Amino acid sequence: MTASWLFLWAAVIIQVPSSPVQTGPHTNAFLPCHYTFDPPRTINASALIVRWSLRGRTIIKLHESISTYRPRGAVLNWATVREGNASVFITDVRGDDVGVYTCCVSHPPDVAEGKVTLKLGGKG
Ligand SMILES: *[C@@H]1O[C@H](CO)[C@@H](O)[C@H](O)[C@H]1NC(C)=O
Ligand SMILES: *[C@@H]1O[C@H](CO)[C@@H](O)[C@H](O)[C@H]1NC(C)=O
Repeated sequence: MTASWLFLWAAVIIQVPSSPVQTGPHTNAFLPCHYTFDPPRTINASALIVRWSLRGRTIIKLHESISTYRPRGAVLNWATVREGNASVFITDVRGDDVGVYTCCVSHPPDVAEGKVTLKLGGKG
């Protein structure tokens, strides 16, 4: 049935803040992203993929190892990611870092994503 099919594909639940994250220039931004499985299941660490992107460009990706693509850096913590906390630190934030970030969590066959907006404030 269509309803149970949709349920299967909604099985990763992503939680992100609904209001923008604001930080000052040249500080580090913390972008929260938490996930759970519905129904709960054991995470297969080899299959888990977490990807953060901005405007379609990957910032950092975790899949067996962590690859950072953002030149000024980004930090994911393996230990907390495995416990459902896929939050990321974006280091040395500047004007071109503002925008809507996508936190995508994949644990095949389930995948889900959330959006976190980063704004730059006047003061650090
Ligand atoms: C975990 O995921 C890996 C990679 O997708 C797969 O090869 C392996 O069979 C999985 N293990 C279990 C216990 O499902
Ligand atoms: C999530 O993980 C980050 C480290 O990546 C940590 O600083 C933060 O406190 C954690 N949040 C919660 C709610 O556990």
